Amino acid sequence: MIAPSVQAPSLGSESQDKDTAAEESLLRRLSGLRGARVAVTGGGGLVGSRVVALARRAGASVAVLDRFDAYPEDVRELFGLDRFGAELAVGDICDRDTVRRVVKGADYVIHAAAYADVAACARHPDVAFEANVRGTEIVLEEIAAAPVRRLVFISSAAVYGNGRPGVTGPQVFQEDQLLVPVSVYANTKLWAEHQARLMLGGPGRAEVTVLRYFSVYGDPQIPKPGSHSWMVAWMSMHAHLGLPIHLNGGGVQVRDLVHVEDIAAATVLALVEERAAGQVINIGTGTPTSVREVANLIAPHYPGSRQIVTPLPEGDPLGGYASIERMRECLVRAVHPGARVGGDRRP
Ligand SMILES: NC(=O)c1ccc[n+]([C@@H]2O[C@H](COP(=O)([O-])OP(=O)(O)OC[C@H]3O[C@@H](n4cnc5c(N)ncnc54)[C@H](O)[C@@H]3O)[C@@H](O)[C@H]2O)c1
Repeated sequence: MIAPSVQAPSLGSESQDKDTAAEESLLRRLSGLRGARVAVTGGGGLVGSRVVALARRAGASVAVLDRFDAYPEDVRELFGLDRFGAELAVGDICDRDTVRRVVKGADYVIHAAAYADVAACARHPDVAFEANVRGTEIVLEEIAAAPVRRLVFISSAAVYGNGRPGVTGPQVFQEDQLLVPVSVYANTKLWAEHQARLMLGGPGRAEVTVLRYFSVYGDPQIPKPGSHSWMVAWMSMHAHLGLPIHLNGGGVQVRDLVHVEDIAAATVLALVEERAAGQVINIGTGTPTSVREVANLIAPHYPGSRQIVTPLPEGDPLGGYASIERMRECLVRAVHPGARVGGDRRP
């Protein structure tokens, strides 16, 4: 775990003391952000809003660029963004003038805006292309033209697809292995990874760090209509409503579930950690969990809940779990020799 366990139920003063100590230690590591300016595209989303909150606690001034239309209006209140004291620009990353305005003067940029749902990208590849490819190209061009120190580009474990051909059972995904995306969403992310490294990172240009998030969970994750991602929220919602929990493809797919606060901590650390510059880094726990296991963890909280097997949706990879060696090297050992990473939060 790299972030304090702010989402976990309180276990009394000892655990609160640990949380406070972890938060203080994290903020010490982020002291380089004090007074810096951070631009966050997609800062109105689940991950973006947690990232903005942390960057603000670290003393950065933050500018957010987001369309704010990925969720119903009241979700914005749930994400709490309006309370963090960030500058908010409501706009599209395809609108160059708005991107320029937000990137101008930024020391660091986190590019998290995306049409961020595998199923929606399969249904609307044109929208996926517009946001994740064309919009990203504009963001990269504007960063290239500005004195930005570092871009952290948010990619996804989806780029690994089904992993190495012919391997059965849970696979560990390593950053340098062959990438075979199996969805429109993953294709757009892989293109953007390559394009970011093509356009930036050279002399006089912003450094680039690519983070491949594994499966994010944690409050306040809101399932999107027609999505099959974000299984913890989906399954819990179904069980809560008395609907059967769907085990797509029998629930044998493997995921590496990472808490959203740990994702936020890794992302903000990636802005400032020296060793993260120029790297592609998995952000996971190194722990494989099958979809069926998640359903079985949720079920006891909803007595009487049922499970049904449903077909594997298009583009839903068999999945795997993160090799976290590089994450340890770049984001943890860099400052904290021997620190523990991930794996101790259960959904
Ligand atoms: N949640 C996960 O499990 C997961 C896993 C891997 C990678 N990611 C990546 O992490 C990032 C954040 O994802 P999230 O889970 O917070 O999703 P999210 O949908 O909550 O956030 C994405 C945000 O981007 C904004 N956005 C989308 N298109 C835009 C555009 N054209 N212009 C401006 N803003 C736009 C949306 O309004 C939304 O607020 C995304 O890049 C996503 O692909 C997420």
